[in-house]
Amino acid sequence: MNPRVEGMTRVIAIANQKGGVGKTTTACNLAACLATAKRQTLLIDLDAQSNATLTMGVDPRDIRERNVLHVLKNPDSLPRVMIEIDECLDLVPAHIDLSSEEYSLINTMGAETQIKKAVKQVMEDYDYVLFDCPPNLGICTRNAFQCATEIIIPFDPSPYSFDGLEKIRDYIARAEQDRDIQITTYGVLCRAQLQRNVDKDALERLQQLFGKRTLPPIRQNIKVVEASAERTVVVWNEPSAIGAQDYIKFAKAILHMESSIESDSFSLRVVGDQQ
Ligand SMILES: Nc1ncnc2c1ncn2[C@@H]1O[C@H](COP(=O)(O)OP(=O)(O)O)[C@@H](O)[C@H]1O
Ligand SMILES: [Mg+2]
Repeated sequence: MNPRVEGMTRVIAIANQKGGVGKTTTACNLAACLATAKRQTLLIDLDAQSNATLTMGVDPRDIRERNVLHVLKNPDSLPRVMIEIDECLDLVPAHIDLSSEEYSLINTMGAETQIKKAVKQVMEDYDYVLFDCPPNLGICTRNAFQCATEIIIPFDPSPYSFDGLEKIRDYIARAEQDRDIQITTYGVLCRAQLQRNVDKDALERLQQLFGKRTLPPIRQNIKVVEASAERTVVVWNEPSAIGAQDYIKFAKAILHMESSIESDSFSLRVVGDQQ
């Protein structure tokens, strides 16, 4: 079932203030899977590094005058900055200008809710809105938290990664309080090399912290990196690779939550699905 038919758009932030943990890779692969499953998807790049923009094949030099910074300044500019990537996938790109200008945005009235105002205007057109957040808990991530109803925290199992989790949980709690809603946190999507004991230990620790909300890990896979180097996503570029298969499984889990209808009657045509 298409959630839009039900009048429901799912707004998912992919966030972690640590860099290099797989936020962009998760956001782009999830967006690609959802679009392939014919869900109208809007991916919003909130990171000045523009990695999601690049991954989706857009050259940031071409979008200096129409990117997410313009939406942060004026929510009405959203339709003007959107780029069609695929039949069911649109992108709001980011430009490096965001890094120098984001500080000036902080003092603007309602700075934390600009993206929410923008997304509200196009909500009816999308089944999913995804945010690729930057590696900090600044104004862009706060905008995502003011708008999202679901949060995914990509995670890499290095020794210091656990320290930051507490901080994100505080931020989520703050947004929940501000908005008087409960945000669904899908715990953590961990990138792991399962043959490594440190990674296995980290997964166990995550399970203790997040219980069922610890998602099945995404395996370390060079094809994932190769796809980004080619400015695309592994689920499109090489769907049989193990990294792609893990992302497809993850996307299916997200799709599965759309409604409680039996999964048999649920069309999950995701690229590379071999079941
Ligand atoms: N499953 C994976 N296997 C191997 N490399 C990965 C995997 N997921 C992400 N990477 C690589 O790790 C690096 C950081 O990922 P990225 O998604 O850019 O993190 P973030 O957005 O959190 O900074 C990138 O080079 C990416 O290609
Ligand atoms: Mg990133």
